[in-house]
Amino acid sequence: LENGMFLTPPMGWMSWERYRCNINCEVDPDNCISEKLLKDMADRLATDGWKTLGYEYVNLDDCWSSKKRDAQGRLQPDPKRFPSGIKALADYVHSKGLKFGIYGDLGNYTCAGYPGTTLDTIDLDAQTFAEWGVDMLKLDACYSNASMMAEGFPKMSLALNRTGRPIAFCCSWPAYQGGLPPKVNYTLLAQICNSWRNYYDIQDSWESVMSVIQWYGKNQDVLQPAAGPGHWNDPAVLIVGDFGLSYEQSKTQMAIWAMLAAPLFMSNDLRSISGKFKEILQNQLAISINQDPLGAPGIRVYKDKNFEVWRRVLSKGSFAVAVVRTSYDGTPKPAILNLAQLRIVDCLLGYQVIDVLESKLMGFYNLLDIIYFQVNPSGVMLLYISPVCT
Ligand code: DGJ
Repeated sequence: LENGMFLTPPMGWMSWERYRCNINCEVDPDNCISEKLLKDMADRLATDGWKTLGYEYVNLDDCWSSKKRDAQGRLQPDPKRFPSGIKALADYVHSKGLKFGIYGDLGNYTCAGYPGTTLDTIDLDAQTFAEWGVDMLKLDACYSNASMMAEGFPKMSLALNRTGRPIAFCCSWPAYQGGLPPKVNYTLLAQICNSWRNYYDIQDSWESVMSVIQWYGKNQDVLQPAAGPGHWNDPAVLIVGDFGLSYEQSKTQMAIWAMLAAPLFMSNDLRSISGKFKEILQNQLAISINQDPLGAPGIRVYKDKNFEVWRRVLSKGSFAVAVVRTSYDGTPKPAILNLAQLRIVDCLLGYQVIDVLESKLMGFYNLLDIIYFQVNPSGVMLLYISPVCT
């Protein structure tokens, strides 16, 4: 969507995967969906180095709303959990130099059973979000149907535009239509949405991360050309720092999300995340691969029983390569490759190669020089490859 937003993939935090629909603030005041949780995360984003790296959105997902609309038919937050109201929360987030995102559902109810946005309330809800100072809307599509989605998503896009407030629009539409043509029209999506969820929700497990990666690899001929500046594929949130991924697996998720030019929305607890996971998420070079201004997502170029290799074309003649270890026999396995095999051949003088996740210069390589390294089970080697030629 050409509204000047999401020229590179958005970055920030999102409540859903980690906090779900925990509304039990009496028993679990620190982790329930409430203004406190969101303010805590805004504080952490602003003070723990996240914001400076680009993590700027604080996104409230499902379960923020009251069970009923107000007397004027407007959406309203749960009064116990958001006693100050959404406008005050957005103001707080803005006061930290961050942006505020909210969740809606084009359908009769949200997935968790809160009031949905039906075709006749699209304009009113867009208006309400704009008045609250919302910067991004994630529009889900539970309790909807194909024709309602086909009418409602373009209509919401227009309604947001008409509010006059810049509001980035994230559409879950394709995820409810199998994610592929002919049911999904990526040309249309690129015109009306800034990003879209293509596939199922991610869960807190390596299996889930792998199934997402495999789906994007398998369908890359359709998905890769669909994305670009202002309109991105969204393979769902980063779960680095949660319970399910090992250190190696966490690096793999970060690396592939960088290769895919995916939104980097973390769904984790920034108040207690441990240093080594934070380091992965704050790796500057991995972020700069994700944020490359060319905005061309990478593709999988090779796969065998031990490895798969992803390659992304970056600006200024550079490349990123991710070698993922997809076998689990317990020792590090050697990988041997050269630039020519990777079709990185434009600069005949050779390339500088950096091990991104170790932030280490590996050396300078000519096109046929052997690049040798080891990859741990379920781990990754992420390379940043830049030409010596100027
Ligand atoms: C389904 C979406 O795909 C999730 O990301 C989340 O928003 C839930 N719905 C909320 O109910």
